[in-house]
Amino acid sequence: MPRTISVRLAGLLGLGILAAMTYGQGPPPGPPNPPGPPPLGRPYDGLGKDALDHFKVGQAAFLAEDDVRGGLGPVFTEKSCVACHAGPAIGGSGNRLVTRIGRITAGQFDPMIEFGGPLIQDRGIGRFNGVKFEGEVVPREARIVARRRTVPLFGLGLVDAVPDDTFVAIALQEQQFSPLTAGRPSLVADPITGQPRVGKFGWKAQQSSLFAFAGDAYQNEMGVTTPTFPSENCPQGNCNLLAANPAKLKPNDADDGTVHQLADFMTLLAPPPLPRIGPVENAGQVLFGKIGCADCHRPILQAGPSPIAPLNHAPFAPYSDFLLHDMGSLGDGIVQNQAGPREMRTAPLWGIRFERTFLHDGRAPSIEAAIIAHDGQGRGARDRYMALTKAQRDQFLAFLNAL
Ligand code: HEC
Ligand code: HEC
Repeated sequence: MPRTISVRLAGLLGLGILAAMTYGQGPPPGPPNPPGPPPLGRPYDGLGKDALDHFKVGQAAFLAEDDVRGGLGPVFTEKSCVACHAGPAIGGSGNRLVTRIGRITAGQFDPMIEFGGPLIQDRGIGRFNGVKFEGEVVPREARIVARRRTVPLFGLGLVDAVPDDTFVAIALQEQQFSPLTAGRPSLVADPITGQPRVGKFGWKAQQSSLFAFAGDAYQNEMGVTTPTFPSENCPQGNCNLLAANPAKLKPNDADDGTVHQLADFMTLLAPPPLPRIGPVENAGQVLFGKIGCADCHRPILQAGPSPIAPLNHAPFAPYSDFLLHDMGSLGDGIVQNQAGPREMRTAPLWGIRFERTFLHDGRAPSIEAAIIAHDGQGRGARDRYMALTKAQRDQFLAFLNAL
């Protein structure tokens, strides 16, 4: 991290001063991004041999295809993590969408477990023990059908290392200094301790740690159960079919070893390289703060203590507060933990130059289309964007395209 950022951050981390973070606090000016293959998918520079070994073992687990003997299915979305998190490097994103369903029953959100919800596993392992395990389909009864786009995983170890208190403090600060756009932390149960923790991963901030998300994904995307996530998904909600499940071990993995390996890989996966900000991008960055984008897409956060040197107290630039915001019509209608139907987590913008589609369901073909779709608490900033001159918009988009 260039020294200029650390110096600026040293001042920014006092709470009072954080409030002054409205613009201009992103990375310093520099030449534009060089052409060539994206420098993504690598571990942090300067890791010791032990950490590098953990990265390699974790990456192998991330690439590995599970099979029926190993616990795949009986229903699943893909056979490996990398099947979705692939572009433009291992751990990235992709066009693969997953589907969530729900309906309102007696005024309450119903995740439709008995119909195969909340997540549709659209592939099955085929015929075993007299039962043909087929992929789930969206049931006729579903009233809410939400698609979710795969997100990139670069740099998430830094987010994981931010203490919960920081997110709580940021939320308080937003209430005080930008109440119209203020977000709130999503408290979720830690899957190991059961204690409430701040969720920051997923479009709805539904998981609080990389370990928890990895275990959740292993269970719900691939159908591999572990001691921490022990329940098999009942195909299309029919739990009787599980008697014919060929995977004999319950849970499928006797320990959480693979989940730890997956979490290690993501923890050690370096963030997208800092953007190169020239004078045009810099002007765009100032506008980004001025019209209120940075109130939610907070440029700088700082990790707490970590045994991994490159993460330890490291400042980083995710362009998100990782809080839930009421996005009005942009919300996906799903209730997930504390997140209501209109609430979404501020999407981090680091590495957005490598993405091709935008927003939770990938509906936006361009960054500009994503901005225009902002509603609810994002509506004001969107309207101020629309009021920029053509020249200002060009600067603004040059900045976002550099991130
Ligand atoms: C079928 C595609 C698919 C597969 C397979 C898959 N993921 Fe994902 N991943 C997604 C989608 C879609 C999201 C966003 C989900 C959401 O928020 O509801 C996501 C989100 C995540 C996140 C949260 C990132 C963030 O910024 O908040 C993590 C961590 C993650 N996946 C890890 C994994 C791991 C580890 C595996 C393998 C065990 C895996 N994923 C398998 C599609 C997939
Ligand atoms: C009230 C908080 C808030 C404000 C203000 C806000 N955003 Fe967002 N932004 C979000 C949330 C939440 C999402 C995720 C929405 C979704 O996909 O459902 C998002 C998504 C995005 C995305 C898509 C990211 C992706 O990976 O798909 C872009 C680009 C973006 N915002 C840019 C901006 C810009 C530029 C501004 C200022 C004009 C702005 N935002 C203002 C909260 C905000």
